[in-house]
Amino acid sequence: MMKATARAHTNIALVKYWGKKDPTLMLPQTDSLSLTLDRFYTTTSVEFDPTSAADQIQIDQAPAAPNVAQRVSQFLDLVRPQGCFARVASVNNVPMAAGLASSASAFAALAAAASWAQGLHPSRTELSRLARRGSGSATRSIFGGLVEWHAGHDDQSSFAEPIQEHVDFGLEMLAILLDTRQKKIGSRRGMQHVVATSPYYPTWREVVAHDMAAMKLAIAAQDIDQIGHLAQTNALRMHALNLAADPGFTYFNAATLKAMETIDHLRETGVSCYYTMDAGPNVKVIYDRRDRETILTALTPQFGADHLVVAKPGPGVEKLTDERDSL
Ligand code: DP6
Repeated sequence: MMKATARAHTNIALVKYWGKKDPTLMLPQTDSLSLTLDRFYTTTSVEFDPTSAADQIQIDQAPAAPNVAQRVSQFLDLVRPQGCFARVASVNNVPMAAGLASSASAFAALAAAASWAQGLHPSRTELSRLARRGSGSATRSIFGGLVEWHAGHDDQSSFAEPIQEHVDFGLEMLAILLDTRQKKIGSRRGMQHVVATSPYYPTWREVVAHDMAAMKLAIAAQDIDQIGHLAQTNALRMHALNLAADPGFTYFNAATLKAMETIDHLRETGVSCYYTMDAGPNVKVIYDRRDRETILTALTPQFGADHLVVAKPGPGVEKLTDERDSL
């Protein structure tokens, strides 16, 4: 059997990864911590074919763009049986490249499918290390629920680990979809530019060390208000690095700022809710599920029901065995 299908879910960082210390091994500057979401995922089939002369890569039923195909082929070089090319078919249940972390679910699913297609049985720690080589945030998408990525200092020591795979309290996230077009500055380029030019970078390392410890305490206490507060502050400080780079840049657009203001205002009226943003304009709201209806009612007139997607904690990478799931 040279074919396997895997499904992995996206994750949204509560303490962000924003910078590498080794771009080849994909070692991050800092630890990070995320929540895997049930609503957004990628399903990927990999089939190694000894008779094929090149990789064939389909994404969402179309041939992958050359730069994407190259990134997938380079990743496959890390695992493929010698000289053996692959057919890869991947379908995203994620608006591509809109700051909803499609590379996290994509490379987590690809790492698993490429390993399983060869009959290998890597541990999830090994899969996490492998997924890291495709995209940093994919390191965490191997696991479900609340996940910590240890920055480490070499290939062996840089991997993710679950803090709480099955989240047993009301933590939930709602994505406000503001703009699903391709982002202008990819996260890879954005973070590299920030590490090279943002004068606040040394402070960011200290911020993350503090936030990791505080976030783990807040999770242990199931204190959603504190989790949200820490996540929002951490996100704003990450985005401050971008503004302070040379030249400065931002992922926010006018709609992002308006959504941030709405959430802040809602919180001031007594509803515990906070926001976080990644390398795109979309805003994710962090709250307790018991406040879901109140928050949806407050946001629907401004954004429209179609643009609000409720996501719960989701599972780690899974093997799909049913032939019908095969892409
Ligand atoms: C803002 O994992 O997309 O979402 O490692 O270069 O592939 P590469 O970058 P990527 O960066 C994610 C950045 C972030 C924060 C986070 O997920 O921690």
